[in-house]
Amino acid sequence: MDESHRQKARRARAGVMAGALRGAALVDLLVSIPVLERDTFVDEMLGIEEPPEIAELPRGSVPYLPCGVDEILATVREAPVRAGDTFVDLGSGLGRVAILAHLFSGAPASGIEIQEPLVRSARARSAELALPDVSFVHADAAGTELDGSVFFLYAPFNGELLRRVLRRVEEVARRRPIVVCAVDLELHDVSWLQPRKTSRVSLTLYDSRPISQP
Ligand SMILES: C[S@@+](CC[C@H](N)C(=O)[O-])C[C@H]1O[C@@H](n2cnc3c(N)ncnc32)[C@H](O)[C@@H]1O
Repeated sequence: MDESHRQKARRARAGVMAGALRGAALVDLLVSIPVLERDTFVDEMLGIEEPPEIAELPRGSVPYLPCGVDEILATVREAPVRAGDTFVDLGSGLGRVAILAHLFSGAPASGIEIQEPLVRSARARSAELALPDVSFVHADAAGTELDGSVFFLYAPFNGELLRRVLRRVEEVARRRPIVVCAVDLELHDVSWLQPRKTSRVSLTLYDSRPISQP
C-alpha cells in the first residue's frame, strides 16, 4: 500500500477508535480507496495481522481466509443489515466481517470460530477499537446454540458439517424470520431458504420461509 493510503488508514483507525467514523462516512472512505488497495487498507485500519499457524481442523472445516471488503459491503447493503439486527459470522476468523458489519450498520455483531488463537486475536481487535457490541465465541458452530437475525458464511464449512450448522441456523428460523448471506457458497436444496437475487455472482442471499413446528 502506498504511504499516503497508509497514513489515511491510520487516521481512519483513530476515527473508528473515537467512535467518529461509522456508517455511510466509513463506506464513502473505503469506496474512495482503489479496489486493489482496499483490503490492505481495511487490515491497517482495523489492526488485523497475519493469522497464526493453522491448527488441524475437523473434517469439513475450511481454513482461515478473509472475505473481501467489497463482498462484506454488498452483504450489509443488500441483506440489508440494520442497527436493529443481530449479525452473526459463522466461522469468523480474525473478526474482519463481524467488525466491519457492525461499523457499517450499527448492528451488534458476533463471530463463532473454532480456532482459539483466531478468537483471541479477534477479541483483541474489537477491544482495541473500543467496540463493546462486537463479540467472539470460541466454539464449533455445529455444536452451539445460535441466535441472530442475519447469518453470514464465507465458505467456512462443507459436506456433513455444513448440513449440521444449517440445522442450527434452522432452529433460529423456527423462532424468527432470518436472512442467510453466503459468499462463494450456494445453499442448494435447503427447503426452508428462499434465494434472492444479488448484485454479485459471489454473494447469495436467502430469506427464511416460515417453518412449521415438528
Ligand atoms: C474461509 S474462513 C472465513 C473467515 C471469516 N469469516 C472472514 O471472512 O474473515 C473460514 C473460517 O471458519 C472457521 N471454521 C471452520 N470450521 C468451523 C467450525 N466448525 N466452527 C466454527 N468455525 C469454523 C475456520 O477456522 C476459518 O477461520
